[in-house]
Amino acid sequence: MITKPTIDRIMEATDIVEVIGEFVQLKKRGANYIGLSPFANERTPSFTVSPVKGIFKDFSTGKGGSAITFLMELEKFTYPEALKWLAKKYSIEVEETVESSENKEEDNRRESLMIVSGFAAKYFHETMLETDEGKNIGLSYFKERGFNNETIKKFELGYSPDQWEAFTGEALKQGYQEAFLVDSGLSVKRDNGSLYDRYRGRVMFPIHSFTGRVIAFGGRTLKSDKNVPKYVNSPESDIYHKSNVLYGLYFAKKAIREEDNCYLVEGYADVLSVHQAGIENVVASSGTSLTAEQIKLIGRFTQNITILYDGDAAGIKASLRGLDMILEAGLNVKVVLFPDGHDPDSYVQKFGTSAFKKHVDDNKKDFILFKTSILLKEAGNDPIRKSEVIREIVESIAKIPDSIKASVFIKECSYILQIDERALLTELNKMRQAKAKKDHQQQQQTPRQQQMPDEPHFFDEPIVEVAKDESSQEKEIIRLLLLYGNKMIDWDGIANTYIGPFMIAELSDVEFEDTTCKQFMEIYRQEVENGVLPEEQHFIHHRDKGIVDLVVNLIATKYTLSENWYEMHKIMVPDEQANMKATILGAIFHLKKQKVGKILEGLRKELQTTPAEADQEILLNQYMHMKKVEKTISDYLGSVILK
Ligand code: CTP
Ligand code: MN
Repeated sequence: MITKPTIDRIMEATDIVEVIGEFVQLKKRGANYIGLSPFANERTPSFTVSPVKGIFKDFSTGKGGSAITFLMELEKFTYPEALKWLAKKYSIEVEETVESSENKEEDNRRESLMIVSGFAAKYFHETMLETDEGKNIGLSYFKERGFNNETIKKFELGYSPDQWEAFTGEALKQGYQEAFLVDSGLSVKRDNGSLYDRYRGRVMFPIHSFTGRVIAFGGRTLKSDKNVPKYVNSPESDIYHKSNVLYGLYFAKKAIREEDNCYLVEGYADVLSVHQAGIENVVASSGTSLTAEQIKLIGRFTQNITILYDGDAAGIKASLRGLDMILEAGLNVKVVLFPDGHDPDSYVQKFGTSAFKKHVDDNKKDFILFKTSILLKEAGNDPIRKSEVIREIVESIAKIPDSIKASVFIKECSYILQIDERALLTELNKMRQAKAKKDHQQQQQTPRQQQMPDEPHFFDEPIVEVAKDESSQEKEIIRLLLLYGNKMIDWDGIANTYIGPFMIAELSDVEFEDTTCKQFMEIYRQEVENGVLPEEQHFIHHRDKGIVDLVVNLIATKYTLSENWYEMHKIMVPDEQANMKATILGAIFHLKKQKVGKILEGLRKELQTTPAEADQEILLNQYMHMKKVEKTISDYLGSVILK
C-alpha cells in the first residue's frame, strides 16, 4: 500500500487542470475550465473542471471526481496506478508498505503486465546500446535509417538478440512470472511448457500508452526474406487493445494540442523520422485501418487531422471509405499525397524539414475534394459511373454534422462535378432525413443518457435540482456537512459550535439507509472523533469510488434541494447561508421527520395485522409516542424555519 504521507504529497502537488489538460483541450470559462468530454462523443462541451475544488464533472456521462478518478476512468488505472502516475509526473518518491491483501496478484495483474513490458523495453534498449550484437546489428540499422541518438532514446528503440531464450532467460532470472511473460506476448510457450522469445533478431519499437507506459511492441525483421513476416506485433492483452492505440501519441499529444492538428501516417518509421525532423504532432495507426476509437483519441486533442499518404493509388482508394468515419466524428480531414515511391519517412529523410513542410502545405487537400477528384478521374466520361460518384460524394458530405460546413462542400463539389447545387442539396437532405430517422430509432432502443444541458455552468450558477429519490434527505445532510461542516454556527450569541460535530451528534440516533451515505457518515464521525474536521478534499480523494461519486455529485450541482424543502419554504438557494441555523436544523429535522414517518408507517401496518389485543395496545402506545415525536418535530420545523 502507498503510505498516507506519500498520498498527501501527491495530492498537494496535483493540479487537476494540468493533469486533465494532458488529455482534454480545456478552455477557461469563468473560474472553471470546460472541454469536450473524453468519455463521450460530443460536439458541445459538457465537461467541466473546477481547479478550486480539484474536481471534474462530465455532464454527458455523469462521471465526476478528482484527478485520480479521472485517470482511473480514462486509463482504466487502479487507484494505486493512478497515484503512481501522478507521482511520476510530479517527481514524488513513492513510499509503499508491504501489501497484506491476498488478492494482490489479481489486483495487480495489469500493473504486472505493464511492469514486465517496461522491463522488456529497457532490456531491448540496453541490449542494443551495450552488447556487440546489439550495436552491430540493431543500432547500426537504426543509424542507417537516419535515426539519431536522441530519437532512439526518446522512443526507447531496441534490439532483441537472435537467440531463442535470451530475453526470456533474463526475465525469469530476474523473477518475472511466466504467466505475465506469456500474456504480454513477450514469450511464447512451447508444447513442453518451456518458454522462448517471440522477437528474435528483430529491432524493437515499444508502443506506449498515451500516459507513457510501455504496453506492447512491434518487432521488425532485418532480413529481406519474403517468407519472414516484416513485423511481429504484440498480441491483444489486458493492457493492449490495438484498436484504441496510436503509435507515438504519447510523444505527440502536446504538439498536437499546440499545433491544433494531428498528422496521421502509416508506419513506425514515418512517426520517428517526421518527429525527429521537429514536426512532433505525428502518430501512426500502425498498419491497420483507422478505428473509431483512434479517431476519438485524436479528437481529444484537436479537431483537425491531416493524413499523409505514400502515393500508392490502390491503397488510397481502399482507405477512402474508412475516412468517412472521421467526418462523422465531426473532425476536419485533409489529405497529402507523396510522390510515387516516397513515404513521409523517406521524403523527410531525403529532403529535410523545410522541404517536407512545403510539400505538405502545397499539396494538402480537403478530404472531400480530394475524394471527388480521385473518383471523378476514375469514372472518366462514363455517365453511370459519374452518377455513382456523385452519390458517394454526397453520402460523405451528409456525414458531416455541421450543416454550414456541409453546405460549403456542396457548393464546391457542385463546381467540380458540374452539377446544379440545388440537385446536390436535395440529395443531401434526403440522406440526412434517412439518417435522422435511423438515429432516432436507435436512440429509442438504447437507454436514455443523463440529460445534458446546453451550456455547462454548473459550478457558477445555482441550479435547483429537485431530488426525488428516497435518500434525498440523507444527501442533503451530506451536502451541508461538505459545504459548512468546518464552519461555525452562532446560536444567537449564546454559543458557537462547529456545524460538522453538531450535526453528527444530533444525528447519532438516525440510521442512514443509503449505503454510501451511511459509509460517508461513518467516515465523518470517525474523523470528528479523531479531532479532525474533514474537508471536501478528504472525500474527493477518497479511495472508494462510491464516496467520490456521491460527493462530487453533491458539490458539482451545488444546490440539491429536497422536494419538500423547496416547496414548503419557497426559499431560493442563496438564502441558505444567510440563515444558516434554519438550514442546518431544517435538514436535520426533515430527515428525522422522514425517519419517524417511516416508523409510523411500519407501526400502522403492524397494527392492522396483529390480532392479539395486548400486542395491539403496546403497538398503539408506541404509535402515539411516535406521533408526539412527529408533532414536536413539525412544530420545531415550523417555528425555526418559518419565522
Ligand atoms: N505492419 C505490420 N505488419 C506487417 C507490415 C506492416 O504490423 N507485416 C505495420 C507496421 O506498424 C508498420 C506499418 O504497418 O510500421 C506500415 O508498414 P510499412 O510501410 O511496410 O512499414 P514501415 O514501418 O514503413 O517499415 P520500413 O520503412 O522499415 O520498411
Ligand atoms: Mn516505410
